[in-house]
Amino acid sequence: MNRILVASVVICSYLGSGQVGHAGSPPAFSELIAHCESCHGPNGNSATASIPRLNGQPSDYLLLRLKEFDNPTSQTTHAFDNMWPVVTAMSDDTKRQIADYFAQQSLPKVTLAGPLTGKKLYEQGVAGFASCQNCHGPAAEGSVTAPRLAGQQLEYLKTQLWSFNFVTRVHGPMNAGAMKMMSGDIDALATYLAGK
Ligand code: HEC
Ligand code: HEC
Repeated sequence: MNRILVASVVICSYLGSGQVGHAGSPPAFSELIAHCESCHGPNGNSATASIPRLNGQPSDYLLLRLKEFDNPTSQTTHAFDNMWPVVTAMSDDTKRQIADYFAQQSLPKVTLAGPLTGKKLYEQGVAGFASCQNCHGPAAEGSVTAPRLAGQQLEYLKTQLWSFNFVTRVHGPMNAGAMKMMSGDIDALATYLAGK
């Protein structure tokens, strides 16, 4: 009984902190976008190391992630704490509109750079795992539901690769790939992809 009470208080406080607008009146689109941009930066071009850029991501990928955040069990606690309250009461139509909006924002200017091992791992793949290019594209530009990696925040990229490695972020192919990575591989890949 007590546990149920505690759980619902926790959920209510999450809802309270994550939602915008007032009870009964759905927030305007611009209000929703402003809420996203308060963390992800103007036009989704995040300047915060642990918060991913959204600008120029494939729309289908953004939509998929917004839907995935509904499932708290397949997320890192960081994603659960920040994103679950944002999306939990949002309709699929609204998610699609928001995904289209950020997909259309101009891309960060980026040159893939960093250690040669990062470039080599990206192009050839980690031992026993497919080349990253097969899914993420030759310039790491992303495609359909494989995210753009070029110009993403360095710390965010590292955290995601570790999360796939530890399976705190659940995704079959990426879990299989990241489990083959040593910490040096993760550093080299993330540095190369974050570029400059
Ligand atoms: C309170 C801050 C906060 C707000 C508000 C917020 N986000 Fe996030 N978002 C985050 C953090 C932090 C992460 C990274 C979580 C992780 O480490 O896995 C994230 C991750 C994401 C991702 C995954 C990106 C990727 O490359 O996989 C998407 C998509 C996203 N947010 C979209 C949105 C949208 C759209 C909104 C507005 C409706 C929004 N966020 C509002 C903090 C926020
Ligand atoms: C078989 C296709 C495939 C291959 C090969 C692949 N990926 Fe992925 N990757 C994906 C998909 C699909 C996602 C999105 C997962 C999700 O929906 O949560 C992803 C997600 C990621 C993310 C999270 C990005 C974000 O914005 O949250 C990183 C980082 C990443 N991949 C890096 C790599 C690297 C580095 C390699 C090569 C060693 C690689 N991937 C190989 C399909 C692939």
